[in-house]
Amino acid sequence: MHIERAIPDRPWWVGAGGDLLRAACGSGYISDDELRSIAADNNSAIFLAHETSGLLGISLVAVADAGVRAQLTRSLAALGIAEDLTGDETVGWLRAGVVAPAARGRGIGDRGVKAGLDFLGQKRCRTAYAVSWISGLGQQSDGLLARNGFGALGVIPDYWSGVLDYQGDCAVCGKPCHCAAIVMRRNINVEISVPDD
Ligand SMILES: CC(C)(COP(=O)(O)OP(=O)(O)OC[C@H]1O[C@@H](n2cnc3c(N)ncnc32)[C@H](O)[C@@H]1OP(=O)(O)O)[C@@H](O)C(=O)NCCC(=O)NCCS
Repeated sequence: MHIERAIPDRPWWVGAGGDLLRAACGSGYISDDELRSIAADNNSAIFLAHETSGLLGISLVAVADAGVRAQLTRSLAALGIAEDLTGDETVGWLRAGVVAPAARGRGIGDRGVKAGLDFLGQKRCRTAYAVSWISGLGQQSDGLLARNGFGALGVIPDYWSGVLDYQGDCAVCGKPCHCAAIVMRRNINVEISVPDD
């Protein structure tokens, strides 16, 4: 099994990756065009896990832009945490990770999270956020994130409609989505190299 960063010039992964994300999260979760632009943006990345049999997993990560920082600030406020992230450009965001059902439990999700954290460290992010979907289906990401150093800040009921105003449908509860989410965060140690005299 290989993990590699998706390259927009070789888009073999777009259809399969979009299908994996939409099957797990909902048919309107993300478009193939959005995946192409995430892969082309220097401040975001898509990591692919694949074997000769095809694509097994996909994870999306980004340096949080102004819109995402505002969204995260609203999420913190919903938890009663008065922290304004809107001006902090060192915030990273693990947006999503999905592994094909038949390939789960092999550590592929774990490798996707680690690749995402490595990317955020290279981008000099100091903090990483993840909002973990409570799907009720099991095989959620909160345990995986906790094992990778994330701490839970709290649960937001009705996250997608209440905080995000998400207009797409949800693979579990339809449209509008009323699922809850766990807001999670961890620090990233950015190594500062000191030049020799
Ligand atoms: C969440 C998700 C991405 C995890 O992917 P995964 O590849 O199964 O994750 P991992 O294999 O790294 O870890 C999952 C379990 O397998 C175990 N595991 C890890 N490596 C393993 C290995 N080499 N062999 C056997 N088990 C292993 C882990 O301990 C973990 O067990 P636990 O959850 O009971 O503690 C996947 O379940 C998924 O796609 N879920 C649906 C979509 C979703 O909710 N995504 C998150 C929101 S977008």
